[in-house]
Amino acid sequence: MGHVVVPGDKSISHRAVLIGALGEGQTGVHGFGRSGDTQASVDAVRSLGVEVEDVADDELVVHGAGLRGLRAGPVDCRNAGTLMRLLTGVLAGQEGEFTLTGDESLTPRPMERVAAPLRRMGAVVETTDGHAPLVVRGSGALRGIEIEPEVASAQVKSAILLAGLNADAPTTVVERIPTRDHTERMLEAAGARVRRSASSVTIDPTGALRLEEVVVPGDFSSAAPLLVAAALVPGSDLTIHDLGVNPRRTGLLDVLERMGARVSVFERRREGGEPIASVQVQPGELVATEIEAPEVPGLVDELPLVALLASHARGETRVSGAAELRVKESDRIEAVTDGLRTLGARIHSLPDGWTVTGVPARLRGGRVDARGDHRIAMLGAVAGLASREGVAIEGADTAAISFPGFYDLLESVTRR
Ligand code: S3P
Repeated sequence: MGHVVVPGDKSISHRAVLIGALGEGQTGVHGFGRSGDTQASVDAVRSLGVEVEDVADDELVVHGAGLRGLRAGPVDCRNAGTLMRLLTGVLAGQEGEFTLTGDESLTPRPMERVAAPLRRMGAVVETTDGHAPLVVRGSGALRGIEIEPEVASAQVKSAILLAGLNADAPTTVVERIPTRDHTERMLEAAGARVRRSASSVTIDPTGALRLEEVVVPGDFSSAAPLLVAAALVPGSDLTIHDLGVNPRRTGLLDVLERMGARVSVFERRREGGEPIASVQVQPGELVATEIEAPEVPGLVDELPLVALLASHARGETRVSGAAELRVKESDRIEAVTDGLRTLGARIHSLPDGWTVTGVPARLRGGRVDARGDHRIAMLGAVAGLASREGVAIEGADTAAISFPGFYDLLESVTRR
């Protein structure tokens, strides 16, 4: 199957654009993961008055407007939940009124989770029955608070920390289950004072940010479908280089190992505060596993792929504590249950996950509806490779929301 690289990390690319927009001077973004979602971030900051130069498909220069320099106006966040939630935090500390809209997949997603803490900090954030469109009336006088969000969410944590940059006192987010920490790492790199403990993160108000250069590592979540394909297809041997291996993102590697795939991580190094490595996966005899709430944030976007692995693993796998999957780009618990069941898997939905009984043979194959969700489209493609008859994906184009070249790369690794 060979050696490949994947496009730059989506979470880090969004943050590079947003934090660069708040910085002083220029931020060069190298390895930018250009996709439907991250382009929405570029266009969003442009509509707020920030100049962004497209140097190449994967290179940007963001000309920062300063911590309070964004110009009021409407912003279309399209399909990007990360953009909508992080930007709400950014705008909470800006003067002026901002309206944030999204597409038909983003509009039903919950937004009170960011609006409520930002209101406590002193911003006016109006939701439409808890959803987009949002109206943010920023305040030049935000209060620093300590808060424990109701859900374990890096997006909510990040929105609060970004608002905290412009508050009058330190802001602390308590999280009993740790979530991805790209915002903390990037703010530190930009000169903000961030203090971290095992269960909390505190940001001090700051006068100015200066990010200068961001080197974006390969996106672990984009690599995940390829890694899972390598674990499932007999005779595979795939290595992905220059991959982001932030320990709060790589829960899938632990699960793959536990289930019996052969995983090795090597050539470890650091770039701009983020760990990077090469990751190799080969198949093994797969056995069932159990995933509970504390493990979920570390592989939240990879759980649909875990359900596919489980359908090829001996025994019953149970995934629980993952009710968040119901409010992603689709209701991923139902999308995965219906999708994999039509292909022949023995899967049952739970309110917060699934039980999956592995069948000794390969899945039959059939049709999967992506439901407008990029991760379900990519799941369908990997299921197709692992199946006897292949899988047709309805709405396959939606993969471009996070990974425009996905099908070509998947095909290239299967031909080798
Ligand atoms: C993201 C955090 C996760 C993840 C999403 C990207 C981020 O969402 O599912 O794809 O960039 O912060 P939650 O933090 O809301 O679970």
